[in-house]
Amino acid sequence: MGLCYMILPLLLSVLLQINTAEEYKTYIIHMNNSHKPASFLTHESWHRSILKSLPSPQADQDDSEMLMYSYNHVMPGFSARLTPSQLSELEKSPAHVATHPESFGQLYTTHSPKFLGLKHKLGLWLAASYGKGVIIGVIDSGIWPESESFSDKGMPQVPERWKGKCENGTAFTSSLCNKKLIGAQSCRTNHLGI
Ligand SMILES: *[C@@H]1O[C@H](CO)[C@@H](O)[C@H](O)[C@H]1NC(C)=O
Ligand SMILES: *[C@@H]1O[C@H](CO)[C@@H](O)[C@H](O)[C@H]1NC(C)=O
Repeated sequence: MGLCYMILPLLLSVLLQINTAEEYKTYIIHMNNSHKPASFLTHESWHRSILKSLPSPQADQDDSEMLMYSYNHVMPGFSARLTPSQLSELEKSPAHVATHPESFGQLYTTHSPKFLGLKHKLGLWLAASYGKGVIIGVIDSGIWPESESFSDKGMPQVPERWKGKCENGTAFTSSLCNKKLIGAQSCRTNHLGI
């Protein structure tokens, strides 16, 4: 009897290892839009149906949790959390173009002028009036509007040529925009323009 009790936990831990061997990773999947069947009215519904058709490692897996974003502009495709076997199944599809595993970038500096080798009283920075009137757009994972970096103290009016918007987002209200942070749009709506 004593032996049985020892084997059972051992068996359980082996089973658990098999289950967790299929680890989820995040990928950006580049798809070929010309393969989208006309019956799907949106790219997102096509992407969801592709993900739904993949083998599920857990019977109770919620498919809606797999899709993170659907991309439909410059690069059609989606990002999703997938197991290795789901990924290899997906890559067999003729509509699959490329797989890009999630990667993390390293922030090199918070002092851009020094990083770029710009000098205060000569050269490009001076010639460009220290960037006066330049509108900079960044795709980022989020910002701290309360950071001093976004203080609009001493900033001139927003350039009239600015046609962008400042919209509500996750933990962000449009009232946080000012004369320095002149626009913000959240990509959470699954229509990120990349
Ligand atoms: C997309 O599919 C079409 C039709 O099969 C093909 O002609 C085209 O080269 C493909 N494009 C890419 C980027 O794979
Ligand atoms: C943005 O959020 C603010 C504060 O939560 C709210 O009062 C406002 O109605 C929202 N605007 C839109 C366009 O959703």
